[in-house]
Amino acid sequence: MNRPLTEEKVFKDPVHKYIYVQDLTIWNLINTKEFQRLRRIRQLGTSYLTFHGAEHSRFSHSLGVYEITRKIISQFERSGYPDWPREERLVSLCAALLHDVGHGPFSHSIEEIFDTQHEEWTCRIILEETDINRVLREVSEDFPDRVAAVIRKTYPKPIVISLVSSQMDADRMDYLLRDAYYTGVNYGTFDLERILRVLRPYQGQIVVKESGMHAVEDYLMSRYQMYWQVYFHPVTRSSEIILRQIFRRAKELTEQGYTFGWMARPIDSLIRQTLSAQDYYRLDEALIQTAFMEWSEERDPLLSDLCCRFLDRRLYKYITIEEPDETLLAEIARQWLRIGLDPDYHMEIDFPFDLPYDVYRPDSNKEDKKEKAPILLLDGQDRTAEISAKSDIIRSITGLHQGRYHLYYPEEPLQAAKDKLDGRIRALFGIG
Ligand code: NI
Repeated sequence: MNRPLTEEKVFKDPVHKYIYVQDLTIWNLINTKEFQRLRRIRQLGTSYLTFHGAEHSRFSHSLGVYEITRKIISQFERSGYPDWPREERLVSLCAALLHDVGHGPFSHSIEEIFDTQHEEWTCRIILEETDINRVLREVSEDFPDRVAAVIRKTYPKPIVISLVSSQMDADRMDYLLRDAYYTGVNYGTFDLERILRVLRPYQGQIVVKESGMHAVEDYLMSRYQMYWQVYFHPVTRSSEIILRQIFRRAKELTEQGYTFGWMARPIDSLIRQTLSAQDYYRLDEALIQTAFMEWSEERDPLLSDLCCRFLDRRLYKYITIEEPDETLLAEIARQWLRIGLDPDYHMEIDFPFDLPYDVYRPDSNKEDKKEKAPILLLDGQDRTAEISAKSDIIRSITGLHQGRYHLYYPEEPLQAAKDKLDGRIRALFGIG
């Protein structure tokens, strides 16, 4: 069962000013070792190499998502909306707090190479023998399953899912404000207080009162700005490419039976995909960066070079190309081999839309669990309409797929061997 804390606990937070904890379960979850690990995982992965302020952790973001969810629910309770199921409060708060607990160090790169999913790890940490599972079972035996169902989007009440995961969920509202604050950019801000005031539960979902449309427009515009200015930043993409290649090389070497000069057990288990939920909490960014430092002296020259590049921030440069043209790419690969570069590692085409981000898409395909519920406006006659049907501004940024192909490569070896390159390649890469 749920018990209130005898004394409310308060965290100071730069985005929400204060974060209030009133339930013993929430307090105990925050104090588990698996949740404390989030202090050692950056919210924005490698973005600190582009925006040096972006050192904030997933711990602060997770508390923020919890706080926004708590505010939404208490506003629903205060207003006495009959469409809000009051018995769902604790499960919603726990899912909000724990939604990112399975994020590994530099998640996106690791997930791609080792074929893991942070959502799956989140559920394992909730369901298997961990401190988090123990705290959740104190509420009731089936409580961990209920929290995991919200994360997996299979919970029987969609309104609970949409608090944590929809086009206007607590997760996105917190990370936009937090990432804008810590990167120091001005465009990520929007009026959270106003949005929270215009949300209401309606027929099993969360809708926005029509009078709040402009506040929502502002939120979506800030999302649009943040994607292009921060999340898709080409320098950040370059550091992600280096990271991916380090992990790819480490995996390749492991498969070849290579003996590393230095290896840590959680990293080895990660590469071999034998990591347990109990050991997952040992995996953090401090460990990964120690590995990079050690591997910068490995005898494999490729791994050592990639690690030095990451640590010293000697990232790959890029050129913009129209369409990846096979003949051109084959020609570049040939010339790369001629000057001792490895086309598998030293050229990479990047297109920002393979990221798990979209600016806003109104069409929600219910079959696909990855799709997020759209934003609905509720008018005075109790009719709902999807927001892009009413707002010119939203319509203009909906489904936009602008974005350009970038080809990333290490610049120094090209400069050093420029005499061996064809004139056409030199011109393409701007080498004089
Ligand atoms: Ni999140």
